[in-house]
Amino acid sequence: MVAAVPPARPPERFAPTHHLHMNPPYSRITGTGSYLPPRRVTNDALAAELATRGIETSDEWIVERTGIRARHFAAPDVPASDLAVPAARAAMQAAGVRPQDIDLIIVATSTPDMVFPATAAIVQHKLGIRGCPVFDVQAVCSGFVYALTVADAMIRAGTARRALVIGAEVFSRILNFDDRTTCVLFGDGAGAVVLEGSDTPGILATDLHADGQHVGVLCVPGHVRGGQVLGEPLLRMDGQAVFKLAVNVLDKAARAVLEKAGKPASDVDWLIPHQANIRIMQGTARKLGLPPEKVVVTVHEHGNTSAASIPLALDHAVRSGQAKPGQTLLLEGVGGGFTWGALLLNL
Ligand code: UT7
Repeated sequence: MVAAVPPARPPERFAPTHHLHMNPPYSRITGTGSYLPPRRVTNDALAAELATRGIETSDEWIVERTGIRARHFAAPDVPASDLAVPAARAAMQAAGVRPQDIDLIIVATSTPDMVFPATAAIVQHKLGIRGCPVFDVQAVCSGFVYALTVADAMIRAGTARRALVIGAEVFSRILNFDDRTTCVLFGDGAGAVVLEGSDTPGILATDLHADGQHVGVLCVPGHVRGGQVLGEPLLRMDGQAVFKLAVNVLDKAARAVLEKAGKPASDVDWLIPHQANIRIMQGTARKLGLPPEKVVVTVHEHGNTSAASIPLALDHAVRSGQAKPGQTLLLEGVGGGFTWGALLLNL
């Protein structure tokens, strides 16, 4: 069962938007949270389900090629916002802030509740917040790095003081369960952070990119017209093309943020990559000269949760005691678009 969302209460006041006397030089993560829908599906259980459709796969193939052992699937009537809300509440609790203290909400998602409005508006309402700006960021698996970069810029510009940045996905909705090359890879979940203006360094450097010539390698080629869904609104991926692009661009983005921050790779305490494939994650770490022990890994339990994967891994690292205050974290994402980016921060 997904945690019930209490009805929205009227806030004590409208959330403040800006009015800082001086723009803060930095933004800093002050709390993390995450939420997984309760239904955990192991590779064996998924393989058995797919076998009833005549699709052949195995735990052995999935583990060997991806590192994935299980993923979580939301119940059919549970939208991305219902995963985002408990993740956001956990992040606010960790940061010691109340919903009415939040003055910006950004949700990174490729599986929004509706065509519009933004899932961020639905999350805002479910959290009982009113008045602050809200919007979604659509950069697929790079979405959280994009959203955090935007929130950092808005906080340093004085546009917001205390942001909720969330990655939330129900990728199970867009999987083609007749395509074994993709349906075994993805899962559902949400992760969130509270990002606040700070006098001490938090986010140190960011680096975002995209190259639209690769739209076709990873896409959901459907759209709505005249009340009908046209095209095929199911995920398609050329896995090998994505693999090759990913290893190359992730290394470049990681080196770019280190260079911008003037830090050597050896200063990185934890690499928190997008969790798509253990081989890509280990390959990126190896290229940077980082030992595998410095890579936060949740892909074995979560599968690929797209924009939710990095904040889910970050929250896992924080709550398990792996990542400690003051440590340097390197976040990096890559996905459909083709989009990619990295972000270096002090926790
Ligand atoms: O989130 C955005 C970022 N996404 C990614 O980073 C994904 C990047 N790509 C990958 O992670 C990998 O390319 C995959 C995991 C998707 C595929 O791994 P691969 O090592 O590139 O496998 P492949 O596509 O070369 O397929 C190898 C074989 C094929 O059989 P043949 O042609 O050699 O006979 C596939 O048909 O494995 C077969 N295969 C499967 N077998 C059992 C493909 N999917 C499955 C499956 N179960 N689920």
